[in-house]
Amino acid sequence: MSKKLITLTMLALFLLTLAISGCGQQPSQSAKVLKVGAETTFPPFEFQDDKTKDYVGFDVDLMKAIGKQLGYEVEIVSMGFDGLIPALESGQIDVIASGMSITPERQQKVTFSDPYYKSGLSIVVKKADTAINSFKDLEGKRLATQIGTTSAEEAKKIPNATVREFNSPSEAFLELQAGGADAVINDLPVNQYYLAQGGNKEAKLIGDILNSEEYGLAISKKNNELTQKINTALAELKKNGEYGKIYEKWFGKKPE
Ligand code: ARG
Repeated sequence: MSKKLITLTMLALFLLTLAISGCGQQPSQSAKVLKVGAETTFPPFEFQDDKTKDYVGFDVDLMKAIGKQLGYEVEIVSMGFDGLIPALESGQIDVIASGMSITPERQQKVTFSDPYYKSGLSIVVKKADTAINSFKDLEGKRLATQIGTTSAEEAKKIPNATVREFNSPSEAFLELQAGGADAVINDLPVNQYYLAQGGNKEAKLIGDILNSEEYGLAISKKNNELTQKINTALAELKKNGEYGKIYEKWFGKKPE
């Protein structure tokens, strides 16, 4: 082999290596993906669109807007509500956006963003029910809730009540309809949405609303940088009106 040929071959190999490594880098650059964990049967915060099968809702839109601000593509990872914090701790997801209430117990395991929604717990009973008018009236009753939620915690505090925890609020509502439960305890906006979507044919909301809760996005305690970025993006979205638009889209009114 002539010297020239060797040089050319080496040059070709060198260029090939560059090309290959270049190719390798491209996907990782464009695929800056933020994995967002959610329990996706919680309308209007996160649920699957009947037709498109896409995940939609207030939290989904909010996370997409935050992702856009920060230059991330957002991927929703759907899982059971009680699996979300373990998934965050093991690094399977980067953020939880799942109507998750900020509680001291959870704060021991995760960092919450600034609050993004004011919520509370409420009771749904059968339309014909006249016996249950407050949380006090739930004593000794059969209660249906969603597993791992603040509602389930609250239900367990009620004296002599039987508490059943379902994977989704809709299963809890079905249990009420079927007569297997006397009441559903669940987040107020989700109860309101359920009733507005046709649930009010069978069921009604009780006026007694419990302890106001606030939703936060949850981030790993190890990832302070992301928490800060998310808080900055959230503040910006509130300032530039984007948050208000998303809020109005899902709740039909301006944020309080
Ligand atoms: N806010 C309640 C909690 O934090 C219920 C949240 C349930 N969220 C859901 N996507 N299923 O416990």
